Amino acid sequence: KDTPVVGPKKVLLAAPRGYCAGVDRAVIAVEKAIEHYGAPVYVRKQIVHNIHVVTELEAKGAIFVEEVDEVPTGSHLVFSAHGVSPAVVNAAAERGLQAIDATCPLVTKVHREAVRFARDDYEILLIGHEGHEEVEGTAGEAPEHTTIVGSPDEADTIQVRDPNRVVWLSQTTLSVDETMETVRRLRARFPNLQDPPSDDICYATQNRQVAIKKVAKDADLVIVVGSANSSNSVRLVEVALEYGAKAAYRVDYSSEVKQEWLDGVNTVGVTSGASVPDELVQELLADLADAGYGDVQEVKTAEEDLIFSLPKELRKTRSGTT
Ligand code: F3S
Repeated sequence: KDTPVVGPKKVLLAAPRGYCAGVDRAVIAVEKAIEHYGAPVYVRKQIVHNIHVVTELEAKGAIFVEEVDEVPTGSHLVFSAHGVSPAVVNAAAERGLQAIDATCPLVTKVHREAVRFARDDYEILLIGHEGHEEVEGTAGEAPEHTTIVGSPDEADTIQVRDPNRVVWLSQTTLSVDETMETVRRLRARFPNLQDPPSDDICYATQNRQVAIKKVAKDADLVIVVGSANSSNSVRLVEVALEYGAKAAYRVDYSSEVKQEWLDGVNTVGVTSGASVPDELVQELLADLADAGYGDVQEVKTAEEDLIFSLPKELRKTRSGTT
């Protein structure tokens, strides 16, 4: 009776979260390639930006490399979900590598837009993070026609060749709100700025942000499972903070959760990036239950049922032609 009133502890579990169709396909592509061709199968860059996934695939026989010239001639090489520039595709062919393209089809779609707008002599203002693999790949489709815009502030200062011949495209895994702010500021300077023919920020990125916004407003703490180099995971932390979470952190593994994060916390929001296997979220939920947060309520804002067929190089192997 003298004890202070403390609200019941609970978890709000965001849905959708975790694997998107592009990640699922890319991971299966590496597994199938190892099955068909035998280990090792080489993969250029991390197949998806998740340390756990990469470690598991290494154990199965994948070798991750940074560049094509590290791969022995004649080997099989998988291109990661983030896509590659034509220069990389050519380098692999010149080296005599058997390439398997696990680029997410929604990234390929942006590549096609870049090619088309460059052909029509537009300058492409590519909103995205300089140095991110996806941005390197997309910009590489038309390097002479592409300017990277890294933030809303950069939109205020970039110089263009002809303000009447500009289009914006974007990385697929950005913050929707921040991207719209960048576009608004670009358009203030270039009123004739063209929009992409359809959303470049993909359905999975958008859905995960909508779900965490709903969770965040009721959460004392949000924990995002995802790797530090995963753009969409890092964005989820930012969006959670912006939408009312009192604190938000990103972890690769549940073991990284610090005891003090939970001090005075009643409601923990949980989500995960598009490259994160659900087992990592289940581990977090189990640990949270041990800490008294056993009541888990799912907050679902969308259904997802998209599935992509395997890369064409692996579809062929089914009929035994390679
Ligand atoms: Fe593709 Fe979006 Fe996933 S671009 S890999 S569906 S995060």
